[in-house]
Amino acid sequence: MARIALTGATGFIGGTVAAVLSARGHDVLCLTRRPVDLPWPSQVVDFADVEDLSRAVADRDAVAHLAIFNDFHGMYADRRAAYDGYVGLTRRILDAANAVGARVGYVSTDWVFDGTGHLVDEDETPNPVNLYGYLKTASELVVLHRASSGFVARVGGVQGLHQTQAAGPRSQDVGFGYFVLALVDALRSGERFTVWEDPAINSVATPIVSAEIGALLGLAFDAGAEGVLHFAGGTAVTRRELAEATCRVFGLDVAQVDFAPPPDSARLPAPVPYDTSMSGARTAALLGTTTWPIEDQLGSLAAELAHGIPVPLS
Ligand SMILES: NC(=O)c1ccc[n+]([C@@H]2O[C@H](COP(=O)([O-])OP(=O)(O)OC[C@H]3O[C@@H](n4cnc5c(N)ncnc54)[C@H](OP(=O)(O)O)[C@@H]3O)[C@@H](O)[C@H]2O)c1
Repeated sequence: MARIALTGATGFIGGTVAAVLSARGHDVLCLTRRPVDLPWPSQVVDFADVEDLSRAVADRDAVAHLAIFNDFHGMYADRRAAYDGYVGLTRRILDAANAVGARVGYVSTDWVFDGTGHLVDEDETPNPVNLYGYLKTASELVVLHRASSGFVARVGGVQGLHQTQAAGPRSQDVGFGYFVLALVDALRSGERFTVWEDPAINSVATPIVSAEIGALLGLAFDAGAEGVLHFAGGTAVTRRELAEATCRVFGLDVAQVDFAPPPDSARLPAPVPYDTSMSGARTAALLGTTTWPIEDQLGSLAAELAHGIPVPLS
């Protein structure tokens, strides 16, 4: 079992990654920028200081890097801070990991693509259409060209519970994140739910549960994976197909679902990729698993919702 340092553990995906890696016997140390009370061992570090980061990861085999400046409007308002919150931060973490011989796993996004492909594989060249996609692509290059040992793991359409925030983010946006639980919450409360459909929003993806991202990161560290990986669900779905599958798996009435364009207030001040579906077949084969179909992903999410514990598929 590996000794893994983790950034972003207070966040949506990072908390689940910490929970899954810990449950599988890895020794997880969460690196945070402020004192926080987490269910896993944690240490406050100065993310601006490579030497402090190096000391924090000195006894680690690997660093899973998930932290980002996650504020779409804010990154346009202060592009230098955004660059540092993605590319600068990633570079400092790489330098610290390289200094102590730790492998790096960087979680990236399907928004590095321009949205004109379908089920694109790990060799597809990114062509980001907005600042978030650009900064993630630039951070990927830092990892791919600077890490002594490491990989980039692209994820998209991520569904799951927030492990350390009771309410968690659960509203629909122009991406696929949080979509399923937003729909489930509404229909279980007796409300109708409007699925946004519009050519200017993210409309096709390969959803994956965050629990599975944790499992695949563990497998990738165990396998000593290098290069670009796709952690993708096994089914490319439209927003409408995802809503229909959600109703089937969660036993909800699809007649309570409406379809309409998003309100103007939900639109982002930049283009959004249309089809960001990815093929994860090659990655799954490398890690000795499979790409799980949407019904399995949703079944895992239903179990997580029922018991409060992430349920990886691999
Ligand atoms: N959510 C999705 O649907 C999705 C889809 C594709 C890819 N991803 C990728 O998955 C990763 C995790 O995303 P998420 O949605 O879980 O993010 P999130 O919930 O917004 O969490 C962001 C994390 O980054 C930390 N952070 C922010 N700025 C930092 C800084 N300057 N130094 C150190 N830590 C900092 C935050 O810590 P504080 O608590 O201190 O603020 C928090 O732990 C990201 O790399 C993202 O690009 C996410």
